[in-house]
Amino acid sequence: MLGSHTKTMHFFLILLFWQGANTVSINSSLTEDVHKAVISGQSEVIEKIEILEPQTKVFSCETTNVPNKPPNISGYWKKNGAAIESSQQAVNNTDGKYIFSGTFNMEDLGNYSCVFSFSENVRQATFVLNVPAIKGADKPIVSYIGDSVVLKCEIKYGPKTWEWFKVNGTEKEFINATVDTSKYKLCIETNVTKLTVMNLTKEDAGKYLCSAVYDIGPSQGHVELKVLSFTEPLKPFLAIAAEVVVLVTLILLYERQSRSRKQDSETTENGPQSEQTSKLTQDESNGTDGGSSTRHRRVEQ
Ligand SMILES: *[C@@H]1O[C@H](CO)[C@@H](O)[C@H](O)[C@H]1NC(C)=O
Ligand SMILES: *[C@@H]1O[C@H](CO)[C@@H](O)[C@H](O)[C@H]1NC(C)=O
Ligand SMILES: *[C@@H]1O[C@H](CO)[C@@H](O)[C@H](O)[C@H]1NC(C)=O
Ligand SMILES: *[C@@H]1O[C@H](CO)[C@@H](O)[C@H](O)[C@H]1NC(C)=O
Ligand SMILES: *[C@@H]1O[C@H](CO)[C@@H](O)[C@H](O)[C@H]1NC(C)=O
Ligand SMILES: *[C@@H]1O[C@H](CO)[C@@H](O)[C@H](O)[C@H]1NC(C)=O
Ligand SMILES: *[C@@H]1O[C@H](CO)[C@@H](O)[C@H](O)[C@H]1NC(C)=O
Ligand SMILES: *[C@@H]1O[C@H](CO)[C@@H](O)[C@H](O)[C@H]1NC(C)=O
Repeated sequence: MLGSHTKTMHFFLILLFWQGANTVSINSSLTEDVHKAVISGQSEVIEKIEILEPQTKVFSCETTNVPNKPPNISGYWKKNGAAIESSQQAVNNTDGKYIFSGTFNMEDLGNYSCVFSFSENVRQATFVLNVPAIKGADKPIVSYIGDSVVLKCEIKYGPKTWEWFKVNGTEKEFINATVDTSKYKLCIETNVTKLTVMNLTKEDAGKYLCSAVYDIGPSQGHVELKVLSFTEPLKPFLAIAAEVVVLVTLILLYERQSRSRKQDSETTENGPQSEQTSKLTQDESNGTDGGSSTRHRRVEQ
């Protein structure tokens, strides 16, 4: 397998060196498939790559700063953490850089790591192949018994098909909207799927799983649904209403009490109060020393 690939490897090595020296026009459809990782330190380099269908990919790895700059170091590949037997090779020193590449036929998702090993040192870069992530709902969707609700999932690229499941414990049940038309309605716009759940009951609450199926594999997302009864949203309102009733009753009682107390005092202090008002009108009509005395009396009142 690797024998035929060493040729491709050579080709890419040449390509990479050309790129460095001149601006050579290169087959862009080919370069798009080349993913390059440069490892300069000890920490692992992770490159995330999104794929939708089986395809051939070329991964190229480069490292520098190798102590003593030996004429060659060891290089090999790993898939999902396991070394690929025949991939061991000597990677030559080219102007202080060590570069090797590999061509892989991707039939499934997974990880491909290139490993440089020299004098008890190991450096690696990992290309993580995955389908794009689904954008579901971060927060639960809340609706009410008898209502209908729309659950939505969105993804970057339109998949081959969309699927919905209702999660029941550890099981997931496929939702076939064409069978259950009184309960579900499905709407798909390439990269968006909307599942309408109608005539909601308490049993409809829970987790829903949406799946975007690509040729290389599925991408899954979750949407959580909460179904409330109509009295539930009224609860805080009713609590406030009860509080208001209690407060109003208290205020009314207090008012009544203080009014009856006032009436008591009014009947006893009736004499001076009438005298005061007559004095006030007199002062105001006089207008001479009205200012201060009126103010004084107003304070008194
Ligand atoms: C680039 O490569 C592809 C396949 O390897 C080939 O079909 C295409 O003709 C090439 N394009 C150019 C401009 O060389
Ligand atoms: C790698 O380098 C060593 C010297 O460090 C040399 O003896 C050996 O032949 C080289 N191997 C290859 C494949 O170039
Ligand atoms: C690939 O690598 C990522 C990140 O290191 C890890 O989470 C994932 O489990 C790996 N997948 C496989 C199939 O090894
Ligand atoms: C590495 O160098 C050796 C000679 O030192 C040579 O025989 C071999 O072909 C070179 N390997 C590559 C991949 O260029
Ligand atoms: C879905 O496609 C539309 C239109 O092509 C685009 O505007 C939107 O950003 C896409 N959604 C995601 C999550 O990429
Ligand atoms: C969930 O699973 C249990 C047992 O497997 C079953 O009795 C129940 O009907 C299921 N619920 C729904 C909503 O399908
Ligand atoms: C949904 O059910 C209908 C009728 O039973 C069936 O023809 C169809 O293939 C089902 N759809 C899926 C995706 O299973
Ligand atoms: C579901 O609700 C629709 C209106 O949204 C109504 O026409 C239909 O009869 C209801 N179905 C059931 C089974 O309750």
